[in-house]
Order: sequence, then C-alpha cells, then structure tokens
Amino acid sequence: MTVPPSGPVGSTSPSPGTGTTPASSTPPGLTGTAVVGVVGMAVMGRNLARNLARHGHTVALYNRTTARTDEVVAAHGHEGTFVLAPDLASFVDALARPRRVIIMVQAGAGTDAVIDQLVPLLEEGDIVVDGGNAHYTDTRRRERALRAQGLHFVGAGISGGEVGALEGPSIMPGGSVESYAALGPILESIAAEVDGEPCCAHLGPDGAGHFVKMVHNGIEYADMQFIAEAYDLLRGAGLDAEQMAGIFRTWNEGDLDSYLIEVTAEVLSQRDARTGGALVDSIVDAAGQKGTGSWTVQAALELGVPVNAIAESVFARAASSHPELRTAARAALSGPTTGTGSGRSGADREAFVEDVRQTLWSAKVVAYAQGLHLIRVASQTYGWDVDIETVARIWRAGCIIRARLLERIRGEYAANDLVTLLEAPSIRDGLATTQASWRRVVGAAAQAGVPVPGFAAALSYYDTLRAERLPAALIQGQRDYFGAHTYRRVDDDGTFHTRWSADRSEARV
Ligand code: ATR
Repeated sequence: MTVPPSGPVGSTSPSPGTGTTPASSTPPGLTGTAVVGVVGMAVMGRNLARNLARHGHTVALYNRTTARTDEVVAAHGHEGTFVLAPDLASFVDALARPRRVIIMVQAGAGTDAVIDQLVPLLEEGDIVVDGGNAHYTDTRRRERALRAQGLHFVGAGISGGEVGALEGPSIMPGGSVESYAALGPILESIAAEVDGEPCCAHLGPDGAGHFVKMVHNGIEYADMQFIAEAYDLLRGAGLDAEQMAGIFRTWNEGDLDSYLIEVTAEVLSQRDARTGGALVDSIVDAAGQKGTGSWTVQAALELGVPVNAIAESVFARAASSHPELRTAARAALSGPTTGTGSGRSGADREAFVEDVRQTLWSAKVVAYAQGLHLIRVASQTYGWDVDIETVARIWRAGCIIRARLLERIRGEYAANDLVTLLEAPSIRDGLATTQASWRRVVGAAAQAGVPVPGFAAALSYYDTLRAERLPAALIQGQRDYFGAHTYRRVDDDGTFHTRWSADRSEARV
C-alpha cells in the first residue's frame, strides 16, 4: 500500500503488511509504482529506505519478518511513499522496470539467501544492488552468476553509519555502466553532497565498489589508530582528557579537519556519570573489529601491496584485545619509566603538541597513499579502471573518513598523473616540512617506551619509498644461498646464481 504522508499503516487502505490483502499480491493500482525497493529493514536498510522516500522516490519495502516493515512505516510512513510487501513476489510486482532492488541484509549467508529467492522472480535487465559490506570476491562471484541470467548485480559500498544512511552517505557502486545509468541518479539523489556534487559515482565493474569501500575501512582503521596514538602521547605528556578535547577541537579547524577528529573531541570531553571523571578512562582498552580492516590487509597481502600502516592498525586492535598476552608480558618485561614528557611544561609542551599534530597529518597522508595504491593495483589486476580522483571526490562527505585532506587529494589527482599520493606536489612539500616533527615524535616514543606502531610504520614506509637502495639486495643474496632463488645484477641483464657450496663462482642462469 502507499502510505499517505499523514496516515499510519493500515488506516487508509487494505495492507498486505497487515494481512488484509491476500499475502502474495500487490494491491491493485500499485503494481510497478515503486522506482526502487529495499530488502532488509534493520537499521541501515530502514534508514536508506527513508532517505530514498524523503527524496521523493516511491520505495517498496520487504523484510523477512513482516513486523519490522510494519514498524518502519508506522513510525516513518509520513516521510514519503512506501509500498509494503509481505513477500518477495509482491515486492517484485510493486517495482517499475527495470527493477531496482537494494539488498540490505546480513552480509554473507543472508545476502545469498535473498539473492536466491529474488532471482527467479526478476526479469532480464533488472538490477540487484548489495548495499552491505560484502567481500569483493563474493561480489565478483555474485555479479558473474547474475550476469549469466541477464541481470545486473551492483556491489555498492555505503559508508556513513546509520546517520549517514538516513541523511546522506557516501556511496561506492560497482557493476556495469548500463546498470549505473538506471540506478546512479537515484543513488546520487540520496548521497551526501559537496558543493552540489554527490558523493556517489560509478567506480568500475563487478567488485570495484566493494573493494573501494573495504579500503575506505582500512584507511579508517589507520586514521583511528593514529589519533589514538596521538592521544596516548599527549596523555603521556601530562594532558588530561578535557585539555586534549580542546586540542583536538583546535586541530579540527586546520589541516586535520575531519569527522574522526571531531568525534575524538566529543569522546574525550564526555564525563562518566559514575566516576565523575572522563568517560574514556572508564572504558576497557580493548578495541573490537568487524573484519573489514583485516580484509584490506589480506587483499594487500594477496596483491603484494605494502600497506604496513593499515596492517599495524589492525594488529594494534588485535594486540589490545589479548588480555592474557598483555598480562603475561606486563609481568615479565621491563622498559623505560620516563614517559614522553610528563615533566614538559609551557613552551616545551606546546612544541610537543605541535610535533604530534604534524606527525598525525604525516601518518594520515601515508595511510591514504597506501590505501589508494592498493586500489590502483587491484584496479590494474582486475581491469576495473578505477579513477582515483573520483574515489577521493566521493569520500569528501558522508563517510567516516571524510576530511579536509580529501579535497587536496582530489585536486592533486585531477592535476597530476600520480603513481603515489606521496609524490603529489603539495603532499611532498607538506611532508618535507612535517617530517622533522614526525621523526622527533617516533624517536621520543621509542625512547620512552610508548607504542606508536602506526606512526612508526608510516614513517618506515616513507623512508622505504624514498631510499636510494634497500637492503633487499642482501635478502636476494640469502635466498640464493639457501634456495638457489637467483638474483639480478645492477650492472648486467639476466638472472644469476652463485655456486655457494662449490667454488662460489657466478653462473648466468
Ligand atoms: P543489524 O546488525 O543491524 O541487525 P544485520 O544483521 O546486518 O543488521 O541484518 C539484519 C537484517 O538481515 C534483517 O533485516 C534480517 O531479517 P529479519 O528481520 O527477518 O531477521 C535480514 N536477514 C538476515 N538473514 C536473512 C535471510 N537468511 N533471509 C532474509 N533476510 C535475512
């Protein structure tokens, strides 16, 4: 049924959702009226459906448990026009052709179950969108399977959490160009915007969208770890949570301006009603994860792409969540007791805070460089032709890693053909300035025994990439010694092996 702006469910006309209409038929007159449908009325699905309805789209709704759909329309029916469907057959009937179905159910088995039930009901040219956090290899598999049946499958990363889904997320769709022509305008209408430009764009075929979303989450892990390390260093320098909240607020007015810095200030300034102290001091220091950070690192390992700062961020969460390991080690291991400068005061402390700010910016740039390089390599490997400028553009608002820096990154990719973000003129020049602080901070942390796995990994990456000559030469020598893996010479073409266990002469192989 359509729900008029003022009417609660069931009060205006017979509703399949309330059982007054035969269960598997769409009410007369409503067949083909919905331009888009959402399957799955958990929080992300319902908010996306509301966002679509608020933008004037008639939205068909279906959830396995019908009561959930009824709840959504009872609470939010006045926000737009919804068509409730008690089963998938009437849901499909309600949709205009080509049908656009957005699946927002539990990733994995839930998505496969819905696809299996949905596909027999669809017709050639219809579009199935998976808006969940699917692994890109699953998306590639599903896209292949649906394409063979004449259907379009779009893996769309959606970032911004529940508020973003409702008010304007960043949307990262993959899939065919043809599917985007039919779907893109609708998605773009509900996405976040910057200067009138939507944070939604077609990224490439099959798994491209979900791959980009996965890397977005990997960068998010790194960004959060860096901020946490900055907090740890400032805490070590004697600042309390309230003071730190003030510092993060100030930082949010400059180059570090980002959603995650804003969130950090909010969390740090929150008081704990039970203790009267800062809430952060009452929270167990064990970070959870849902897996997309690990997926990013796994993909990077498979593709052979160095993303060490992102990897350290995932491992830092893992380390924090092994209490038995930490307890055993804490009892056994010694270290310096001085801290990063609890004795610091006045100008000295101010200089340290500024060093930490510069370090945070530097490391953040490295995390973006690593993530974007991973996308570049995946794009080459899978033939996706992802445009990195577009990726930066649609990350500028709506998503969790939205940041002022992304405007700069976007501009750099628009103006230059970059292998790495680090060579972009404004980034390169920025790092030339910030690196002294970065080295001081990592050095001070090492001296004081404060763990900064993210900052240190990012700095090592920076130094690795700029090194004239890496110690990899020695590794090749070792590999040739014990495994005859051969090596190449700097002064000759071809492949060589030294007869280590014989006369140690060199052979061209
Ligand atoms: P959340 O964590 O917010 O609850 P989720 O677990 O990602 O969200 O997704 C839950 C949604 O997936 C629900 O809409 C759920 O349907 P029910 O309300 O009927 O439980 C849906 N879902 C999960 N598995 C499903 C399946 N096998 N078939 C259909 N829908 C499924």
